[in-house]
Amino acid sequence: MILIQNTPAGHCFTLHTEGTTYAFWVTESGHLEHLYYGPRLHRIEGLLETQRLKSAFGPGNTIAYSEDHPALTLEVLPQETGTRGKGDYREPMVATCDHLGRRSSDLLYCSHQLHPGLGPMPALEPGQALAMPHLGDTPDPVETLEILLKDGVQGTAYHLYYTVFYAANTIGRRMVLENTSPGPLIVEKLMSAQLDLPHSAFTLTHFTGAWAREMQRGSMPLSGGLHQLGSTTGTSSNRTNPLFLLHAPKATETSGHCYGFNLVYSGNCQATVEVGAFGSTRVLQGVRPDSLATTLAPGASLATPLAVLTFSDQGFGGISRHLHGFTRHHIVRGPWQYRVRPVLINSWEAFYFDVNKDRLLQLAKRAKTLGVELFVLDDGWFGNRDSDQRGLGDWQCNLKKLPGGLKPLAEQINHLGMDFGIWVEPEMANPDSDLYRAHPEWFFEIPGIRQSLGRHQLLLDLGLPAVQDYLFEALRAILDSAPISYVKWDMNRNMTDVYSKLSPQTPEGQGALSHRYVLGLYGLLSRLTQAFPQVLFEGCASGGNRFDLGMLCYMPQIWASDNTDAHSRVALQTGYSLGYPPSTMGAHVSDVPNHQTLRLTPLATRQTVASFGLLGYELNLAHQSVSDLKAMGAHIDFYKQWRRVLQFGDFYRLEADDFPELRESTGWMSVSQDRRQAVVGLIQGLYTPNQPELRLPLRGLNPELIYRVRQLPVQHSLSTFGDLVNAVSPIKLPKDSLRLKLAERLYPVPGEQLELVASGAVLLQGGIRLHQGFMGMGYNEQVRLYPDFAARLFVLEALDN
Ligand code: DGJ
Repeated sequence: MILIQNTPAGHCFTLHTEGTTYAFWVTESGHLEHLYYGPRLHRIEGLLETQRLKSAFGPGNTIAYSEDHPALTLEVLPQETGTRGKGDYREPMVATCDHLGRRSSDLLYCSHQLHPGLGPMPALEPGQALAMPHLGDTPDPVETLEILLKDGVQGTAYHLYYTVFYAANTIGRRMVLENTSPGPLIVEKLMSAQLDLPHSAFTLTHFTGAWAREMQRGSMPLSGGLHQLGSTTGTSSNRTNPLFLLHAPKATETSGHCYGFNLVYSGNCQATVEVGAFGSTRVLQGVRPDSLATTLAPGASLATPLAVLTFSDQGFGGISRHLHGFTRHHIVRGPWQYRVRPVLINSWEAFYFDVNKDRLLQLAKRAKTLGVELFVLDDGWFGNRDSDQRGLGDWQCNLKKLPGGLKPLAEQINHLGMDFGIWVEPEMANPDSDLYRAHPEWFFEIPGIRQSLGRHQLLLDLGLPAVQDYLFEALRAILDSAPISYVKWDMNRNMTDVYSKLSPQTPEGQGALSHRYVLGLYGLLSRLTQAFPQVLFEGCASGGNRFDLGMLCYMPQIWASDNTDAHSRVALQTGYSLGYPPSTMGAHVSDVPNHQTLRLTPLATRQTVASFGLLGYELNLAHQSVSDLKAMGAHIDFYKQWRRVLQFGDFYRLEADDFPELRESTGWMSVSQDRRQAVVGLIQGLYTPNQPELRLPLRGLNPELIYRVRQLPVQHSLSTFGDLVNAVSPIKLPKDSLRLKLAERLYPVPGEQLELVASGAVLLQGGIRLHQGFMGMGYNEQVRLYPDFAARLFVLEALDN
């Protein structure tokens, strides 16, 4: 809801979402002064008078804005659009240089208008070969405020857009710069959003990492100066995800003021958080300036991607649920938006490049008996692709591996009762490929120097319409050639040597190439997803090197990491969960020892962890024991029954100050939208001995309802106890002996059971005290054997009365 008040002092704009309020106004000098962003204000009388800056003089050696406004110093004023050159020494939101060499800017209010929905998105290029992601249609109320600002120095125009996603408690911000000056305009920086907060008592939480360890959560208290996050890899990157939070130092999962930020963009991005000289905090988000830098001819414009801002006074949990709702309702779209996602099996860790029809069909048949619904043929099926050294780019099926092509294989898999999907990596090719030999001019390369390769690959210049057209046709031919209902779209190298051989060989001609690449990718994806709306696309970039809201506009889910180790995945998926809902996160059960870490974790734990994302399997089923296969089948049955709650429920991380004994364990909980069903996962890290007590906190339930709580059956095996078993067994069972193996089969060790009925009120306040934990003595079926990397799953269902 957007309120515009024409006060005697100036226009005041108040943007309400269901639980938040954002406000700013036009000062007498014409600047947009930020007034407030925080909990929803149901009455706004006095907002302007109480929150506006009351300057009587410019302090110390600050600069007075003008003789007419001697007390106004821009360095002190909280603004919506900071500029350079007029006395604001903090990082500016925009930086341009006009044809006269003027580098100062002064953005002043001109006019405003309201738009239903998202407001106008300018056509960036004729035919939209380069596209910014449009957000999806949605039943939630959405409206947009557009403010036109004029640069009082350079004469250019800035359209500032504020989109209010009322139910999602989110504000979207973006900007379009129009060169209304008479000469060329050099754009050095154009950010999507600026937020000036009145103090600096914040902690900055960010998500950094690398391949196989994406989304590691880190925090630092703000102090004076500039903190910069962002990526330079050409993707939104596993080095630093565009998601970040700014929050009260003592914020928890349930309490404390917390701001969340993200960007609907998949290339180089940047966020700066700056504590200014006068104690305020300025947040800027957008495309990394040197990736967007360009020269605009008179009349041309440049648009930023949408920045996403949200606030919650209910800590990290509140922020996450806002961002999850926003992503589910406004980012992901198409037939798969709310459709439960299939349980899949992927061939990669089973066979790597060594695929052939017989092996694949054998894997498929085994998978079918477990209840798997989608068979995914990963890398290795096309061209001369026996390793990552060659063949990428040649999208013809390798007929030696798959006689007759994809169609007969897909049909046989369909005949088994499963859908069929494939892996592609269209954005690049090996130099040893027919594509490169035919079209070297389509690739980013600096002529005359040795190129730097990543995974033996070069990048296609996706900003070129010819490349997009070629890829569209190549992919269309594949998707038309066989019944393919799923595509895993990979992207395995970061950018280097970004140089377009077909663009003018001048600094201007080569400007903003990585940005044009991203827009070209969006253009291609928007054509493909329109042509094949029923295909489920899953993004991937060496795992999570491009896990962002831009890709999610086209691909409802993304492979979160090449690291499938359950213990690593706990940290990783927890990191993602701060900003991305479980329905976006690909998560597979793989073999042990795990291929990335060589760690051994129990199957039950691997299945529990993967079920809090989108459950898939990625292992050779021919190498699994009968009992493990049985357990997989049982788990898939369970998952299918509960997946709507797991994929689309409200997600809670079960950390609680008043449950300190949970510290070695991670608790995750998904609650159905009607709060009648919930699934809880508890996953052990490293076991600390002699900690018998464990209480499980619960969240999101309806206090008025009565729930039946049930722990899923737990099964141990004699070998878990090692030599300790011989302390109680009447016959000796040496480790690794046949006798032990036989005894294991004859004497399964059932774990503790838990089933109870309790009110939501009791469960919310007290959680559940679990069985006494194992301590080396007195083991019986009432003892919770919960060693390193163990897990438990619980389900809750409301009773009818
Ligand atoms: C990297 C991906 O992240 C893996 O899952 C797999 O698809 C390989 N590429 C295939 O080359």
